[in-house]
Amino acid sequence: MSETRSFPPSSEFAAHANATESLYAEAATDPDAWWMRQALDRLTWDVAPTTALAWKAPFATWFADGRLNASVNCVDRHVAHGRGDRVAFHWVGEPEGDVIDITYADLLRRVSRAANALSDLGVRAGDRVAIYMPMIPEAVVAMLACARLGAAHSVVFGGFSADALADRILDADCRFVITADGGFRRGAVAPLKPAVDEALERCPAVSRVLVVRRTGQDVSWVNGRDVWWHDVVDAASDIHVPESFPAEQPLYLMYTSGTTARPKGILHTTGGYLTHAATTYYYVFDIKPESDVCWTSADIGWVTGHSYIVYGPLANGVTQVLYEGTPDAGGRDRWWRIIEQFAVTVLYTAPTAIRTLMKWGEALPAAHNLSSLRLLGSVGEPINPEAWMWYREHIGGNRCPIVDTWWQTETGGIMITPLPGVTATKPGAAMRPFPGIGVDVVDNEGNSVGNGEGGYLVLTRPWPGMTRGIYGDPERFNDTYWSRFPGRYFAGDGAKRDSDGDLWLLGRVDDVMNISGHRLSTTEVEHALVGHPAVAEAAVVGASDDTTGQAIVAFVTLKLSADEAMTDQSALVSELRQHVATVISPIAKPRQIILTPDLPKTRSGKIMRRLLRDVAEHRQLGDVTTLTDPTVVAMIDGLMSTHINDD
Ligand code: WTA
Repeated sequence: MSETRSFPPSSEFAAHANATESLYAEAATDPDAWWMRQALDRLTWDVAPTTALAWKAPFATWFADGRLNASVNCVDRHVAHGRGDRVAFHWVGEPEGDVIDITYADLLRRVSRAANALSDLGVRAGDRVAIYMPMIPEAVVAMLACARLGAAHSVVFGGFSADALADRILDADCRFVITADGGFRRGAVAPLKPAVDEALERCPAVSRVLVVRRTGQDVSWVNGRDVWWHDVVDAASDIHVPESFPAEQPLYLMYTSGTTARPKGILHTTGGYLTHAATTYYYVFDIKPESDVCWTSADIGWVTGHSYIVYGPLANGVTQVLYEGTPDAGGRDRWWRIIEQFAVTVLYTAPTAIRTLMKWGEALPAAHNLSSLRLLGSVGEPINPEAWMWYREHIGGNRCPIVDTWWQTETGGIMITPLPGVTATKPGAAMRPFPGIGVDVVDNEGNSVGNGEGGYLVLTRPWPGMTRGIYGDPERFNDTYWSRFPGRYFAGDGAKRDSDGDLWLLGRVDDVMNISGHRLSTTEVEHALVGHPAVAEAAVVGASDDTTGQAIVAFVTLKLSADEAMTDQSALVSELRQHVATVISPIAKPRQIILTPDLPKTRSGKIMRRLLRDVAEHRQLGDVTTLTDPTVVAMIDGLMSTHINDD
């Protein structure tokens, strides 16, 4: 790690930056008062709050006596202030030329119609609505329409399987689903409605399914349950009078993987979350709503899409690009063409995307005019210094500051980041806590480590965007985050402070894997594998991978009957990989599956994942003395080299 390399804040940038050095001191003096000021400055309240934080560990409320409507803050107020003609989204569909510009006034009409239609279908404040959609404008409109009605949305990533969708619908007790016939992905039609139909066989409580026609493919239909978006939304009135809701009204659930097989429904509420998303967006991305064109390349199905496509940017009234497809659809220069076409100024993406674009070579970005870019961001996993430097040089023309932003679904918004124009940057470092955020790096006993040392990342005080808990499971919330270091939030990440005291994130320290910025638990994948009739036991590890950060490697033992019946090992391995893709999602498909007669276990019967990770990463094996049978590892190591299942 090149700790010594440091880029000072550009003075040219600093002259106009939203952030100033004094923010840190102001926030540190009285964080609650500082956040209160942000809440009042950045949002429009129907009833202004008079209290900031109320903390009964581990449960917080923020601005609890305030009232507001999230969709009014994202849409109506910009129109009311005479900015209705500003483009909210340049939407770019995957098929070439499929572009729609949506102004804030258009967005208001669309959201109002959708809110009226949802309300007619029976959606009420306090309900949960599942959204399973491609990256089309209706996805954003659906989220805002739910928020407008005080119903919590639960967006499920369109790449998830029918099973995963059903689990999430059931856990949140959703009675409504909003979906599309399908979307376009890498030049092909990716159907969605069939997965909804399959999922709903297990979800009898769902009474209505609203379906957007995107691809025009045939879909099956359940009369009385399914309705076309264009039938009910397009016909609805474009005037909808919004209600105001308490600041702690649930805004959404976002399911994310933890260390167990069951994903957790992370709950976010309205006032604190919106304050956090809007404030961080304003300072970290140095937003100038009159001139910026921002592009967050995330999918709406993840928290980055929620905080930095929908709530943060729209609360700031900024113009954005929303792109439906993959970076290589219509050529590997698709992103650069989009940036050139819309003169994008701020690009926010993930290291895995940067590494992929890097593999495709610098000639592609060099052939396009990227001079509109002024700021670059990264999120989702630690960014390796090589990718950071490539991003800076080949995309940012050595001129754009890079903000490496650390945060999580649970934190709601950015927690650790440089501030452009203020903070120096270092390739691979997230640098400093955002103003008003308390961060520490501690050892096993919970003591702060010194400069130059590593440990566990903890958050030391509540913040406005923090999750209000795991849906339906307050105890799990306490156990997962607040019990390891009592009174402090344990993020599950390792970190270190360098000799200057700046923060570097080192990846997960628990059984959560990070595949291309997607969180998956080892147990979740193990469960999926063991669910296959041929599998007796499975152990899954995240092994480092040049492109995806980590990749899934699974070690599988077969049931005796399956082992004896097996005629073609590679066919079975493909079947198992496909099985995981079907049960969870293609993103969970193991890169490699090693069939082995045995797994390395301690004498107490625990699988030694640490050793399997060593094997998967071709490292010298660690201590094997606690194993029942040390020869097992050597045998697996031998098998490893003969099994490459990558496709
Ligand atoms: C990882 C995504 C290093 C981390 C917003 C965290 C990062 C998990 C960074 C959360 C970063 C996210 N540097 N690691 N800049 N950003 N992570 O919930 O391990 O999908 O715990 O939220 O991603 O992933 P999640």
